[in-house]
Amino acid sequence: MMSDRVPPGIRASVPNVARMYDYYLGGKDNFAADRDAAEKVLAIIPEIRGDARNSRAFLQRAVRHLTQAGVDQFLDIGSGLPTAGHVHEVIDGAKVVYVDNDPVVLTHSRALLGRSPGVTVQEGDLRRPEDVMAHAADVLDLSRPIALLVVSLLHFVTDGEDPAGIVHRYRDLLPAGSYIVLTHVAPDTMPNKADDVSAVYRNATSPFTPRRRAEFETFLDGFEILEPGIVNTREWRPDPTTDTSRISGDYHLCAVGHKHP
Ligand SMILES: C[S@@+](CC[C@H](N)C(=O)[O-])C[C@H]1O[C@@H](n2cnc3c(N)ncnc32)[C@H](O)[C@@H]1O
Repeated sequence: MMSDRVPPGIRASVPNVARMYDYYLGGKDNFAADRDAAEKVLAIIPEIRGDARNSRAFLQRAVRHLTQAGVDQFLDIGSGLPTAGHVHEVIDGAKVVYVDNDPVVLTHSRALLGRSPGVTVQEGDLRRPEDVMAHAADVLDLSRPIALLVVSLLHFVTDGEDPAGIVHRYRDLLPAGSYIVLTHVAPDTMPNKADDVSAVYRNATSPFTPRRRAEFETFLDGFEILEPGIVNTREWRPDPTTDTSRISGDYHLCAVGHKHP
């Protein structure tokens, strides 16, 4: 758990979505307000810890799969607090750009990952696609395909901010042949509980908007969706050697899309 000494510029009294996620995953980079809010969510959906692990295990399988498909550059937006199995740990020799808009995430990421070969940490906001892509171009070769990761993030973008429009803007900016890796919490996966969870997040740094499968599908317009399509994270190309299928928690839908080469 983080010391109670709060670095300047950090609002420790407001539950923070990155630090709450860290708490679900068993991390120590969180303050009392984060833990209190996270405990409220855990009281509503105790399986959220397993769900977070399943989403991260999906991310790792997707990254491995795309590496085998020849991708060697990854742009991970909303990368979160460094936790086991970050993208650069899953693959050797690829370039990875981690982007987040949270000061604590950026400080920790720079301290822990800044010297890892091939890794760059950039401040950026998902909702500003042109800026994020322009900054990423300092490091990534955008004349070749990349993989864009937006994992467990879009439900922190409100309807008014047009999440589908944001994803489509990235689609148009990505080099031909690129991939997108998406997960998103769906209300259908937590019947009668989504409103209670949203109520907890209303006091956090970002509100929480779970979205139905049909809406998630529209995010992927213009991409070819790889097999097995849009599924729960545990169902996406399960790998017997890193099997998480017995961990309960199925709130995230996921998919990998391919932009036509
Ligand atoms: C739930 S965590 C997911 C972390 C990581 N992607 C994972 O799956 O383990 C969401 C992350 O997105 C970041 N975030 C939230 N809104 C963002 C935005 N508009 N732009 C960039 N990052 C954002 C948060 O700071 C947090 O680190």
